[in-house]
Amino acid sequence: MRSPIVYPGADELTYEIREIVAVAKKLEQCGVVITWENIGDPVAKGECVPGWIKDIVAGEVRQDASFGYSPTKGLQTARDFITNERRKECGIPLDPEDILFFNGLGDAIANVYTYLNRCARVIGPNPAYPTHSSAEGAHAGGKNLTYRLDPSKGWLPDLADLRNKVQNNPTITGILIINPDNPTGLVYPRETLEEIVAIARTHDLFLISDEIYAHLAYDKSAMIPLYTLLDDVPALVMRGLSKEVPWPGSRCGWIEFYNKRNDAQFARYAKTLVDAKMLEVCSTTLPQQVLPAILGDVRYATHVRERALGYAKKAALAHALLRDIPGITAPEPKGAFYYSVVFKDGALNNTHALPIANTQARALLEPLLPALPPDKRFVYYLMAATGICVVPLSGFNSDLQGFRMTLLEPDEAVFKKTVSAIAENITTYLSG
Ligand SMILES: Cc1ncc(COP(=O)(O)O)c(C=O)c1O
Repeated sequence: MRSPIVYPGADELTYEIREIVAVAKKLEQCGVVITWENIGDPVAKGECVPGWIKDIVAGEVRQDASFGYSPTKGLQTARDFITNERRKECGIPLDPEDILFFNGLGDAIANVYTYLNRCARVIGPNPAYPTHSSAEGAHAGGKNLTYRLDPSKGWLPDLADLRNKVQNNPTITGILIINPDNPTGLVYPRETLEEIVAIARTHDLFLISDEIYAHLAYDKSAMIPLYTLLDDVPALVMRGLSKEVPWPGSRCGWIEFYNKRNDAQFARYAKTLVDAKMLEVCSTTLPQQVLPAILGDVRYATHVRERALGYAKKAALAHALLRDIPGITAPEPKGAFYYSVVFKDGALNNTHALPIANTQARALLEPLLPALPPDKRFVYYLMAATGICVVPLSGFNSDLQGFRMTLLEPDEAVFKKTVSAIAENITTYLSG
């Protein structure tokens, strides 16, 4: 008889942000017009990439070199640029050899967990960005380990929960933070980061800080990059082009390794990631080639700042429309471009419903309902009734019931209409 061929962590590989698209497409075939609020792609949502950025890319694409492979770790020019940025920013001596490029952070995340010792666990936030939580769970062949982000405290992490889990589970070797966070919009305050670094130091853990939204914190001074607080603690910091340029199709992100020299095991782990990338040859060349010109351009800081302030404005507008609705908690995001809403304990039941005018859509939805978690039931009803496609929080490996929408709609009037419709339908649903 054949040995089992299914990967032990196969069931952990879920990504509701895209899985929900299949249902939305079926509703579209029934005539429902979908408002896509599920995916964090500013370009797909209609944001314009500035002409000067396109000119830099167009100029570079004319060079034959942009069609070739790049070195395994990434182009020297791109790594030197990042090193210089860290030096200018805060005097951090980051060696260009300690930077490793990937085909987007999705690729980096997959490798980080795949090449970690199978018995070593990384505890991450709950709710969780599913690429991290699924990859970590799949690597360990079980459910992702999490610490709570508390919606009643503006999504601040429950550090007692984190400390307790770290103390009682010797398999935990690392702590993940996402800062600013997806899906909550939390920007970790300095004191919280300092405590997390202290926990890591006390228990000899390494840190992972996914900072793909680093320049999209609404209050610029509130965003404290983890590398400024590490001192001797080993860490891996993730940055990328997808969200900030924005250029998600570039598939370009990178890892910065800090304090390898203090920790031989961590250094060996970092080398494994480089070796694995070598087997793959390298990451995308063109985005690395234009990275110094784009990120170093005098217009770049203003461009990203204006985008961050645009999201801040939409976050405030959505907060004003959601904050007083009974039965939910809707903390105002402080960074990135998502808004997560949580239903209070006991607010949802399996008899709640929304009126669905489209009979075909109703017929499609009804057989699906019994198998759905309560928040997904709301999300499916919302989609069938209004066409608005958001993502249930249960899809973020969370025990919280709620949903995430985006702040990406460029037209403010359309954005306001969408959030108002969400607000009205929450009230109708909960009062049913
Ligand atoms: C926190 C976080 N990390 C990583 C990624 C993946 O980014 P990339 O486009 O670089 O693969 C995303 C995408 O939504 C994200 O939200």
